[in-house]
Amino acid sequence: MWVSQPLFDDIVARLDEHFDVAAMHEVADHTPAQVAAALRDVDGALVTLNDPVGADEIAGATRLRAIANVGVGYNNLDVAALHARGIVASNTPDVLTETTADFGFALMMAAARRITEAEHWLRAGHWQGWAFKNMLGMDLHGSTLGILGMGRIGQGIARRAAGFDMRVLYHNRSRLPESVERECRARYVDVEALLAQSDHLVLVLPYAPANHHIIDAAALARMKPTATLTNIARGGLVDEDALADALASDRLAAAGLDVFEGEPVVNPRLLDCRNVVLTPHIASGSLATRRAMVSLAVDNLVAALGFGPNAGKPPNVIATATKPGL
Ligand code: 8YV
Repeated sequence: MWVSQPLFDDIVARLDEHFDVAAMHEVADHTPAQVAAALRDVDGALVTLNDPVGADEIAGATRLRAIANVGVGYNNLDVAALHARGIVASNTPDVLTETTADFGFALMMAAARRITEAEHWLRAGHWQGWAFKNMLGMDLHGSTLGILGMGRIGQGIARRAAGFDMRVLYHNRSRLPESVERECRARYVDVEALLAQSDHLVLVLPYAPANHHIIDAAALARMKPTATLTNIARGGLVDEDALADALASDRLAAAGLDVFEGEPVVNPRLLDCRNVVLTPHIASGSLATRRAMVSLAVDNLVAALGFGPNAGKPPNVIATATKPGL
């Protein structure tokens, strides 16, 4: 087995019962050539979003039978190419839903109420006296929340919004059953209405080339200038230069970004904007949840290779190359 990143040794050790394991001890953004070399002589691998796995990377991997992605999003995998070779691909849904929804809400609140901006300002010694109009932000309570991508995490955010008495609008590739809409207190609208009516727009849709830069200059221009944008999905969904233009010209009140197109490099224009909260892709990053993700990925890998209680039936097989909701 290849374990591409340092994960949790005590959990990864469960692989030792069945396999010889080569576990990496340094965090790395592996190049395609490095991934190809690592996969050449293994039966399976645990990978993360740092590791691209597509047709070229598996071309020489004649023994490879399973790829277990530690993460729910799997745009780092070319699932069609894996399936064409009969390689089982899996991911880690569900275990991260609530933690990621918590973080999405926190990031949205931080952006709307200017929490990190205010802290930077205070730490820099600018607070010379209390001022009535200092750091005025946007309310969450009673406002309209827009959720683009209403999978498990989107629904988790909608459920949280009830406590803030928010009106919830959503758009998703397919409309949800009425019972789920009722539970989430969410109303289905088209993208146009979502952009125009949201006071706070949160992106929770999986990345696919078809939705590259779905939030571009035109989309941003349709949003309210008082609105906030939060992205906890994938950086490629947002045209970062257009977002920097909107933030710098107060065409958009604020943004919260946990994901970036060129991770770990952050567009320098965003670094220059005071009204954006920036975090290093940590939405699923509670200790308990990251451990649960690794544990599930290990279960998936062991089962895909014919061992353990779910032998031959990994719990989280990625069934089709089309992307499900997060
Ligand atoms: C993970 C994520 O930390 O699950 C996802 O899609 O973006 C994060 O929760 C990441 O995928 C690790 O590979």
